[in-house]
Amino acid sequence: MMSAQEIKQPPFFNIDQLKTWYPVKRGIFSKTVGFVKAVDNVSLSIKKGETVGLVGESGCGKTSLGRTIMLLEHPYAGDIRFKGQSIFSFHKKQKNSLRRSIQMIFQDPQSSLNPRMNVLDIVTEGMKSHGLLKTSQKDAAIHLLNEVGLEKNVIFRYPHEFSGGQRQRISIARAISMQPELVICDEAVSALDVSVQAQIINLLKDLQDRHAFSYIFISHDLSVINHISDRVAVMYLGKIVETGPTANVLNDPVHPYTKALISAIPIPGKPRPKIVFQGAPPSPMNPPSGCRFHPRCPHTVDICQTVEPSLTQASDHQVACHLKKKRAFTAP
Ligand SMILES: Nc1ncnc2c1ncn2[C@@H]1O[C@H](COP(=O)(O)OP(=O)(O)OP(=O)(O)O)[C@@H](O)[C@H]1O
Ligand code: SF4
Ligand SMILES: [Mg+2]
Repeated sequence: MMSAQEIKQPPFFNIDQLKTWYPVKRGIFSKTVGFVKAVDNVSLSIKKGETVGLVGESGCGKTSLGRTIMLLEHPYAGDIRFKGQSIFSFHKKQKNSLRRSIQMIFQDPQSSLNPRMNVLDIVTEGMKSHGLLKTSQKDAAIHLLNEVGLEKNVIFRYPHEFSGGQRQRISIARAISMQPELVICDEAVSALDVSVQAQIINLLKDLQDRHAFSYIFISHDLSVINHISDRVAVMYLGKIVETGPTANVLNDPVHPYTKALISAIPIPGKPRPKIVFQGAPPSPMNPPSGCRFHPRCPHTVDICQTVEPSLTQASDHQVACHLKKKRAFTAP
């Protein structure tokens, strides 16, 4: 979580009207016949030491946004600025440096850790290639393992010898070995048991306190986001529909989609109705006109079908919904 001093700092990372569209090609000449609009006009900023949660159901564009930040996808339009400069104008050396400054942790460490490498090599490989080794490889590995709560005697073991939670600790050690400024955690705890999830979230928070990393924490689970994020952005079909400080959004949600996500969070001893929407999300290749949520929204009015609502201030955070002023929503 951010200190008072960090809150005052300007964002060091700015995503501006970003569109990550994947071309759909057909025919023997591979003609582009359309686009999958995975990320469609998303703006987001991140401050040093801040955790921004990105939440939304499968296919809403969370990973595509992360991959574009990592320069793994080229945007159709929009910009991402790192310390004021567009990352898409970076020359090769700057791109290499950015790829060190931003690290990504994935859901499935089993597939992202090379099964033929031992822990010593996994956690120090990046340091070697970026010239960051200031001590012996073994000492560096032991230091990193200590940071993530693993014993030094595991350095010669291989990924398959660990539990899911331990493997995620190894992934985290590898990520922090690069001394990153921003770590993108893409469903990093989703595959773990609830008790192990809590341990990994606490580890991420401790590391943030020690090193002032910023996190983008991607999850389809709002209760996980609630535990770690300073701010949250709720995504639906490539767009941010509600965003603001996590407590404000969760205590006073305005968008019907956010309300549905919140209704899915179990509260011990307080059973309550879960809001379930009709149908699956539409295809991001042919998103609905107007508000993209209108075919599933229980509160749709005429304007929702034709005019896209923009993200504007509603009480203490931002919402994209025509009816936000009326606040007349109830559970359907
Ligand atoms: N390389 C690609 N080419 C074409 N379409 C893609 C590609 N990668 C993702 N998509 C599509 O873009 C949309 C957004 O996908 P993305 O993986 O970003 O969603 P997500 O929110 O991370 O979903 P999940 O929660 O399942 O991980 C989906 O419709 C997906 O099918
Ligand atoms: S703009 Fe209309 S369709 Fe979209 S969420 Fe608001 S009420 Fe529902
Ligand atoms: Mg994803």
